Amino acid sequence: MTASNLQTEILEQPEAVRRLLDACQGSLPGDLRTFKGGFNYILIAARGTSDNAARFAQYLLQNRNHVPVMLAAPSVFSIYGQTPRLNGALVVGISQSGQSPDIVSVLAAGRAQGCPTISLTNDPASPLAEASDLVVDLRAGPEKAVAATKTSPASLAAVAMLSCALGSPEDNWTPRDEDWATLARVPAWMKETLDGVMAMAGSVERYHFMQTGLTIGRGYNYATAFEMALKIMELNSLAMLSYSSADFLHGPIGILRKDFPTFVVAHSGAMLEPTLQIMARFRQSGADITAITDSQKARALADISFNIPAGVPEWLSPLTDVLPGQVIGWQLAALRGLDVDNPRGLSKVTETI
Ligand code: F6R
Repeated sequence: MTASNLQTEILEQPEAVRRLLDACQGSLPGDLRTFKGGFNYILIAARGTSDNAARFAQYLLQNRNHVPVMLAAPSVFSIYGQTPRLNGALVVGISQSGQSPDIVSVLAAGRAQGCPTISLTNDPASPLAEASDLVVDLRAGPEKAVAATKTSPASLAAVAMLSCALGSPEDNWTPRDEDWATLARVPAWMKETLDGVMAMAGSVERYHFMQTGLTIGRGYNYATAFEMALKIMELNSLAMLSYSSADFLHGPIGILRKDFPTFVVAHSGAMLEPTLQIMARFRQSGADITAITDSQKARALADISFNIPAGVPEWLSPLTDVLPGQVIGWQLAALRGLDVDNPRGLSKVTETI
């Protein structure tokens, strides 16, 4: 049987990220120095999977670069036709295709107001790239399956590269060589994660009759929870909720009942303890818990775990932790006899205005 495009693209992700990192050799293309000190905050425009990379950026660039980050509401620019004052912004667009007019409109507004603009895109000849002073070409190669996979960790890696290249105001915007060195280890960690998850692929049988489910993640992995839900949802046409554990406790927790499918991202670091606490609450409710984790304590609270190798720092963990959700979405769709390359209702380029 020939492999689906989705399978090929999922399995080539460690190499795709390695290609991106090798091409950049420890620095971003273009000269960031002209930007540094020239902005007070970062405004990011993105949609779908790219928006989940933006959620990661929101945590990464604030925690490690100490720059406030806002996510843009693109329709303010494109449909309402308003141009908020963007003084002091570094405007960043993230888009696999670089085509969506609403995302481009945010960058164009930034440029018209004299703000520096950066795009992270898989098409360096796209309208988004044209509206940008600096373009990071994701180099993921053509993505033929409609559901985005390899552009996802490539976008996350590009965000991490931006963080490494920027530094922070406190250290006079000096790029962080030690962070680049840690980032270079990511493709190997991704490969180890994928090998482990693929070895467990048959275990998705347990979700065969799932009609709805919940993903939970917090901090850096808030983004992972959203991306995991999106992949399972769009590949299987079923309803998934995604929540931060903090928000879920404020009300929605009442939806849990015995055997309700929950998928919890529990990565070692600042968010592990609060995540273990919510897992204990889930256990009390009898919900079915799948953990995406590098933690023995989380494994002990889960019904089934997809393991992340030890040593992946929390700030890079979305690059590994995003992988199990893709494989679960793919394997479940295959088990259900669905077309994994062309899920119902999806199109590759979403040209939202
Ligand atoms: C998800 C998916 C979409 C896109 C979204 C944005 O698998 O492919 O959600 O991420 O339409 O598209 P780009 O990144 O091209 O702007």
